[in-house]
Amino acid sequence: MIKGFIFDLDGVITDTAELHFQAWKNLANDMDWEFDREVNEQLRGVSRMDSINIIKEHNAAEISEEKLVELATRKNDIYVDSLDQITPKDYLPGALELLTHLKREGFKVALGSASKNSTKVLQQLDAAKFFDVIGDGNSVSKSKPAPDIFLFGAKELSLKPEECIVYEDAEAGIDAAKAGGFHAVGIGPEERVGHADIRFDSMAEATLFEVKSHFASLFP
Ligand code: G6P
Ligand code: MG
Repeated sequence: MIKGFIFDLDGVITDTAELHFQAWKNLANDMDWEFDREVNEQLRGVSRMDSINIIKEHNAAEISEEKLVELATRKNDIYVDSLDQITPKDYLPGALELLTHLKREGFKVALGSASKNSTKVLQQLDAAKFFDVIGDGNSVSKSKPAPDIFLFGAKELSLKPEECIVYEDAEAGIDAAKAGGFHAVGIGPEERVGHADIRFDSMAEATLFEVKSHFASLFP
């Protein structure tokens, strides 16, 4: 039976992808690196250091590990400053309703995000109150597609993976959920999250009613 839900943050609860893009673009311009929205798509759900390595490889840049860490920190400073503009109006359509609904029905809820800035994002949205457990980039060392972040969430909720549904918008996130033995709801296009147990184009469609209908045998 399903007793809990674990949510990715960026692209599921709110859309920080644009702010990540602007911050990486800012850094890339400084470095004279090429960086566009297509490359940015590859960074969805990917950790900060893995992201800068993708950008580095895209530019065939030769750069020391130490300098890479420094550049990733510079990008993060820009990104964190930009988070001040997020307000409770910035939930993705359907996300606030779903979180409210889950709390009302007594489900346990955890966050399972790769971001080390998730606390700040949740604060800006006034969303911390919906989560029993916060799993983020500071909770585990192996990032998605490894299942560690979701296993952390389930353990902290005192649930088994098969008792949890994971909501994810990233290919690596669905891989992580499946690798951990979770039920997976994909948010986004078929080519990105088509390997989820069920897929919706947006959070607005991924209501508790729809999910309960799909996993009917797993709900009382
Ligand atoms: C999320 C985003 C990624 C981002 C990662 C790390 O998974 O989808 O684009 O790189 O978090 O975020 P951070 O805030 O720690 O740099
Ligand atoms: Mg995401």
